[in-house]
Amino acid sequence: MPFKVVILISGRGSNLKSLIAKAKNYQITAVISNNSVAPGLQYATEAKIEGLGFCPGNASSLAVHKQAIYQAINKKSPDLIVLAGFMQILEKAFVEQHQGKIVNIHPSLLPEFKGLDTHKKALQLYHRSGKKKSLHGCTVHFVDFKIDNGPIIAQSVCMIKPSDTEALLADKVLQLEHRLFPWVVNEIAAQNICYKSGKIVFNKQIPGQAEKLGFLVYQ
Ligand code: GRF
Repeated sequence: MPFKVVILISGRGSNLKSLIAKAKNYQITAVISNNSVAPGLQYATEAKIEGLGFCPGNASSLAVHKQAIYQAINKKSPDLIVLAGFMQILEKAFVEQHQGKIVNIHPSLLPEFKGLDTHKKALQLYHRSGKKKSLHGCTVHFVDFKIDNGPIIAQSVCMIKPSDTEALLADKVLQLEHRLFPWVVNEIAAQNICYKSGKIVFNKQIPGQAEKLGFLVYQ
């Protein structure tokens, strides 16, 4: 039985592209967007994966729009729901229903810089601290009821350089995301990373593997 993954996006879809290219242990059964014109949907089309875009303007309210998305996800009975640049807040009941089965990628070293403008905030802190706070990166975590919160699975780190602009930093972190996210999803699919009662359990080979790849995991 394949490990079934549904990927949620809202825009560009570069993480989706790398999740498609690097799928080893999982099958992407649908790509769903809360934005019917998300450019990322093209990657689903190219890979012959079902892609569904939900136009908010077609729903009578945001609640109805969200319910349509949740129905489409549930119809696929996914083993894992992957938020790859999904910019809509999930309803508590949906998160509750899928606890331990939703992962998100965030462009900062959580718990630092939740929310938007993470690269700008990291650069500001870098300059404010006299270039001492020079670590930045991305985090993959299980989703809980708060935004950009929940047990951290793994992180990938880069150094901020004096020449970095917000755009350069964003690009640097995005390259890290494209390696980290498929690795995590493949390992969850292989059951080497598991969610048990709010905690993450790593198979014993995971820390060594993460170290070789330059990723951080916390035991
Ligand atoms: C990424 O930076 C991701 O960390 C954040 O949203 C962005 C999505 O980029 N959650 P893309 O659509 O995957 O290119």
